[in-house]
Amino acid sequence: MLDFGCGPGGYVVPLAQVVGPGGRVIAVDKSPEQLALLEASIEGTPERRVIQVLRTNGELTLDAIGTGSLDGALLFDVLQHVDEWTPLFEALRRTLVPGGLLLVNPSHLSHPGRVDAGRLETTLERARFSVDRRVRNRVVHYDRLREEEILVCRAHVALSA
Ligand SMILES: C[S@@+](CC[C@H](N)C(=O)[O-])C[C@H]1O[C@@H](n2cnc3c(N)ncnc32)[C@H](O)[C@@H]1O
Repeated sequence: MLDFGCGPGGYVVPLAQVVGPGGRVIAVDKSPEQLALLEASIEGTPERRVIQVLRTNGELTLDAIGTGSLDGALLFDVLQHVDEWTPLFEALRRTLVPGGLLLVNPSHLSHPGRVDAGRLETTLERARFSVDRRVRNRVVHYDRLREEEILVCRAHVALSA
């Protein structure tokens, strides 16, 4: 599983618990400060063994991650920081297995102008994701739980010739 824009890692340990000892969680962020918080919180925990912390310079291409190597990815509360979504969605499409799961919490949907819901769905579909459903569930916001929308998407399965 990939957590892109993981910040201090509110979802990283839960993901590690879900994937178990045989799985792997890649926690990506461009902020050394956020990743230092994550590193401090996971140090010495059993989950640390399955967590790979990856600092980037903000690039959206996910070059360090192999094609078709991810079962799922999280984009939680991060799209409002990303100007061009298409390169990121295309990189996710490449790194996910066919039919792989993409969960998007377009936080700030409630703040008009931050993340445009219509543009989000259109851009996802152009990058060959289907938006299967929208669920409302609890998300972490600055150590508080809030109920927000999560888009449950799937990478299209390539049709064979
Ligand atoms: C509001 S925080 C959300 C953190 C976490 N996903 C959560 O929901 O708690 C947004 C995070 O995205 C990271 N971020 C923004 N743009 C990024 C980019 N282009 N590449 C990697 N990380 C990015 C920021 O550094 C920040 O840690």
